[in-house]
Amino acid sequence: MAKLFEPIKIRDLEIRNRIFISPMCQYSCENQDGVVNEWHLVHLGSRATGGAGLIIAEATAVVPEGRITPWCTGIWNFEQVAAWGRVVEFIHSQGSAAAIQLAHAGRKASIYRDWSGKGSVPLEKGGWQTVSSGDVAFDGYADTRALSTEEVSELVSDWATAAKHSVIAGFDAIEIHAAHGYLLHQFLSPITNQRTDQYGGSLENRARLLLEIVTAIRAEIGQQMPIFIRFSGTDYKEDGWDIEQTIQVAKWCAEVGADLFDISSGGLITGVKIPSGPGYQVPLAEKVGESVGQPVGAVGQITEASQAEAILKAGTVDVILIGRAALRDPYWPLRAANELGVELEYWPSQYTRGKYPSTN
Ligand SMILES: Cc1cc2nc3c(=O)[nH]c(=O)nc-3n(C[C@H](O)[C@H](O)[C@H](O)COP(=O)(O)O)c2cc1C
Repeated sequence: MAKLFEPIKIRDLEIRNRIFISPMCQYSCENQDGVVNEWHLVHLGSRATGGAGLIIAEATAVVPEGRITPWCTGIWNFEQVAAWGRVVEFIHSQGSAAAIQLAHAGRKASIYRDWSGKGSVPLEKGGWQTVSSGDVAFDGYADTRALSTEEVSELVSDWATAAKHSVIAGFDAIEIHAAHGYLLHQFLSPITNQRTDQYGGSLENRARLLLEIVTAIRAEIGQQMPIFIRFSGTDYKEDGWDIEQTIQVAKWCAEVGADLFDISSGGLITGVKIPSGPGYQVPLAEKVGESVGQPVGAVGQITEASQAEAILKAGTVDVILIGRAALRDPYWPLRAANELGVELEYWPSQYTRGKYPSTN
């Protein structure tokens, strides 16, 4: 049996295979209200029909000002929860598990989606004042404002409420977005965190907000449901965030209830060289897998079934996240099963006549 199609159990959640769809923003809440619609249903629904083990819904803001763009999804109110519920129900009907990536974009919020403009959305056009660990803007974006100590503490309950809402919507797992230069990464990295209060300075202090959030979410959702964390394993910059700090903070997160670490990289600053190429972030995930003793996911230019299988067989990575390859082909998992010689029980009944090998 191919490892890629072995089920995996994390806390009480049983996942039918090790192919996770990576969270991918759709920027498609056309009413700019954070409420998912038919696009999200069809987009996420087709990847469930495509055979994924688990689908991670896009970076979803815990508060309105945490959206990357005005078109991003949210989960701070009940209209949003109800709309997510319909999407989750369909994902479940296809046998996939559903996770949601909870996020706050911090100083990288309030920008245009690619096809609507460039850079920050001005206040008079529906943009907003962004907040961050400090008051230095992201290169090319509008000014940001440092959160007060009290505001940082208050954010913890916003994340916990979003987690509660995620449970109500029916999600099976929560991923905390602590990567790609968004708010939690802005706190973790010494490059963007120059604070002098208890949320800045030492590694312990820079990790405090994330640890408080994991603790609060675990208290809110109970013991059955998994918590994943997406980290950038490095800022690719000397004296920045790196893999050793990632490993240490992942260990602390595991102690307060996190279960799986999804290892990406970069995104905090511009002007660094990212060594992209097939599987370029896998070594980062392997290092976390070797050192933390918890399940780990690898992501980034993993496009072939045999490539994914080899990464899992090598030993320290437990699941594979597929991003853009699944945008090109929502049926990536079904095709991968065929390529690896796996007979799937969960080929959609409606598509039986299309099953490999083709009979007509
Ligand atoms: C359209 C698009 C939207 C994305 N949105 C998110 C997101 O919401 N959250 C996140 O953590 N990563 C996001 N990413 C990054 C992907 O999850 C993934 O890590 C990255 O594309 C590398 O994997 P790949 O080579 O398989 O695409 C996005 C990528 C794309 C292409």
